[in-house]
Parts: sequence; C-alpha cells; structure tokens
Amino acid sequence: MADSADPAARRASLHGQWSSRLAFVLAVAGSAVGLGNIWKFPYVAGQNGGGAFVLVYLLCVFGIGLPIMMAEIMLGRRGRRNPISTMALLGREEAGSGRWLWVGVIGMVCGFLILSFYSVISGWTLHYMVLAGRDAFAGADAAALSDMFGALVAAPWTLAGWHTLFMIITTVVVARGVEKGLEQAVRIMVPALVVIMLALLGYAISFGGFAEGLEFLFRPDFDALTASSVLAAMGQAFFSLSVGMGAVMAYGAYLPQEESIIKTSVAVVSADTAIALLAGMIIFPIVFANSLDPAEGPGLVFQTLPLALTKMPGGVFVGTAFFLLLAFAGLTSAISLMEPVVAWLMEARAMRRGAAALLAGGAVWGLGFLTVLSFNVLADFNFLRGTFFDNIDYLTSNIMLPAGGFLITIFAGWFMCTNSSADELDPQAGVVYSLWRVLARYVAPVAVVLVFLNAVGALG
Ligand code: TRP
Repeated sequence: MADSADPAARRASLHGQWSSRLAFVLAVAGSAVGLGNIWKFPYVAGQNGGGAFVLVYLLCVFGIGLPIMMAEIMLGRRGRRNPISTMALLGREEAGSGRWLWVGVIGMVCGFLILSFYSVISGWTLHYMVLAGRDAFAGADAAALSDMFGALVAAPWTLAGWHTLFMIITTVVVARGVEKGLEQAVRIMVPALVVIMLALLGYAISFGGFAEGLEFLFRPDFDALTASSVLAAMGQAFFSLSVGMGAVMAYGAYLPQEESIIKTSVAVVSADTAIALLAGMIIFPIVFANSLDPAEGPGLVFQTLPLALTKMPGGVFVGTAFFLLLAFAGLTSAISLMEPVVAWLMEARAMRRGAAALLAGGAVWGLGFLTVLSFNVLADFNFLRGTFFDNIDYLTSNIMLPAGGFLITIFAGWFMCTNSSADELDPQAGVVYSLWRVLARYVAPVAVVLVFLNAVGALG
C-alpha cells in the first residue's frame, strides 16, 4: 500500500481515539447543533429579511461549509494533534512552511471569543429553564414576555451567575476528557431535542401564522438582500457548522483511520441544517400569529417560544425540557470551542488536562463579562458595530471564521499534495473526491473572497 512509504500517513493520535465511529459523529454533531441553530439562526434570518437570506445561507452551507468541514477534519486526522501543532506539522510536510500554524493560533483566539458570549447566552437558556419550570410564563402576553426578557438582560448579576455556572460545567466536562459523558449526552439529548421541537412545530401549526411564517422563511425577496446580509448568511453558515477555527480539526485528530470523513460531514451538515430550519419553522409562525417583529434581535426565541408554551397542554414540562436540552446542546458546542486550546496546552505546553481546562475556562469566564455588561451597564457604550457583544459576534462569525475557513481550504486544496488528501478523504479517489477538490480549490475560496469584497463595497 502506498501509505506505508508515506511518513505522514497513519500517525498515531497523541490522546487516543474515539471509541467508535458513532462517538465521533455524535461529537461533531454535538458541536454543530447548538444555540447557533435555535437561538441565532432565527434571529439573524429575521433581521435579514427571511427567504433570500435563507437561500444564501443554504448555498453557503453546502457550497462552502461542507467542503471546509471535510478539509478541517481531514487535516486534523492527518496531523493527529491540536490545531496549532497540526498546521505547523502539515505546513512543513506539505507546503514547506511551519507558518501555517497561524491558522491554528487565530482559530483558538476565535474560539475563545465565541465561547465568551456563547456561555452568557447559554446562561439565558438556564434561566428560562427555571422560569418554565416555575410556570412563570402562565398567562403572559407578548408585552409581558418582552418585559421578562428585558428584566433578565438588565440584571448583570443574574447574567454573571448563570454564565459562571455554565463555564464551571463546561470546564469540568473538558477537564474530564471530551469522550467521557459527552457521547451519552449527545446520543440522548439531540434526538430528544428534535422530538420536542417537532411537538412545538405541531403547536406552531395549530396556532395560526404558519403559512405566513413559512412564506417569510422560504420565499426569497431579493430586494431585502443586501451585501451585509449575504455576509451575515455566510458567517451564520460557518458558525452553525462549527467550521473555520479548528474545533472539528481537534476532533478529527481522534478519529480512527478507517472512518469516512465524507459520510460523517454530509450527515452532520444535513442534520444541522434541518434543525436550524425546524427552529425557524417554529419561531416565525409564532412571530406572525402574534404580530411581533421578526427583526427583534437576540431575544427573539426567548420572547416567542413561551407564547406557544403557555397555550399548549403540558407546557410547563415541555418548556422546562426544551430549555434544558437547549442548554445541553450549548454545552456540547462549548466543549468543542474549548478543546483546541486545551489540547494545545497539553501537547505543546505539557500541562495536565485539568489544569489546561481550568486556565482556558478561567480566561473565557473573565472575557464573558464584556458580554454580560453589553446588555446593561455598557449597553450605551457603542463603537464600530454596536456593543461589545455585537462586535465580538460580528468579528468572529463574519470575519474570523470565514477567513480561517478560507486558509484551511486553500491549504487543503492547493498546498496539500493530492496523494495525501485523497488518502485521508477517500482512498478510492472516486468522483466524490474530485467534487470535493473542485469545491475546496475553487468554489469555496472564491465565494468567500467575493462575499468579503461585496460586503466592503468593492463590487459596487
Ligand atoms: N456550531 C455551534 C452552534 O451552532 C457553535 C460552535 C461550536 C462553533 N463550536 C464552534 C462555532 C466552532 C464556530 C466554531 O451553536
């Protein structure tokens, strides 16, 4: 076999491997499915006018995100170490320069920034889990729910408390190793979340507004599509799929050699997209049935879902379970944001996993206070795109992830020799491999550049 002569092939992972193919699929799915699907997708789609945004989002998911996910997992498995060391190693082997490590460095910084606000929003879901459990939504109308959300984000100590709790849980799980516990959690929680969402969909249909909601979501109105919404759609695709910063690269490092990266990626990307669309199909009917504003912003899910929960039988239970499962989905994503740094601290700085997790978790926790304060004390402190939260969100999703993904796909498509990528991705080097190569070399990088240029107005 060709690979026995190739020094890079069949390298052993520094930290063992996933126990099964399913464990890896679940871990990547757990990373992808999170607040991005249920909290962020509906509100960003709402802010960007619906249908046309969704169409561009889908094109970005399958034309850009999917090939980049394959590239990222492939590089991770090829390098078999944390993203920084992997990019340094493969850079030297395949491109004659260790400077590719900067892709890993920037990715880790990006993961830190994302997790700092991700944890705060996960805290909102924990708070809403408690509210749902206490039947606090009973009889509330849209105005009351809007006040309830406003009261939460106006309370820095409450936000800080939930953020702290979420970061402690994340740190403990990462400290124990990504595999333990995670596999069981994802195996049960994600399907349970989907079941609850299907029940909510049923209620969204029965309360009216469904046709209007679907029309908003799926009928493209290209007049509503601006250059900045195209950028937002691309950023959302990267964010929702967890690609562009090395999270799935870190997971790929633990993937057994015989598993198909292509099949895993297709399955995860499809499931992630289906769940985001499902969330939209639940939220927008509620929005229109109650004459709410689809462009409400980050509070959208929290102000709409309770309206359905109060009306449906068993709403207390369904609501509690929904927000609990959403927090779990957030946890499995948060873990993947932290894993690259922790793997790097362990491999390159010889730290123990526990100490590495504590260091990373502590830093993210501190940074999270910028987001906590963005909604209250510093709400009027605006610069560039708005508050600290607005800026961190914009910088990571719309700039850093696409830029990281661009470099990853350029490296995998142009610098990595065909033997290496074909060997990792699809040893039969069939038509699927050729298709990936076209997407990775031309379609994805050119699309990212065009969207960027378009957004800065260079294309008029
Ligand atoms: N994809 C996750 C979500 O949709 C968030 C996430 C986890 C992420 N890991 C990531 C985003 C890595 C970007 C990069 O909620």
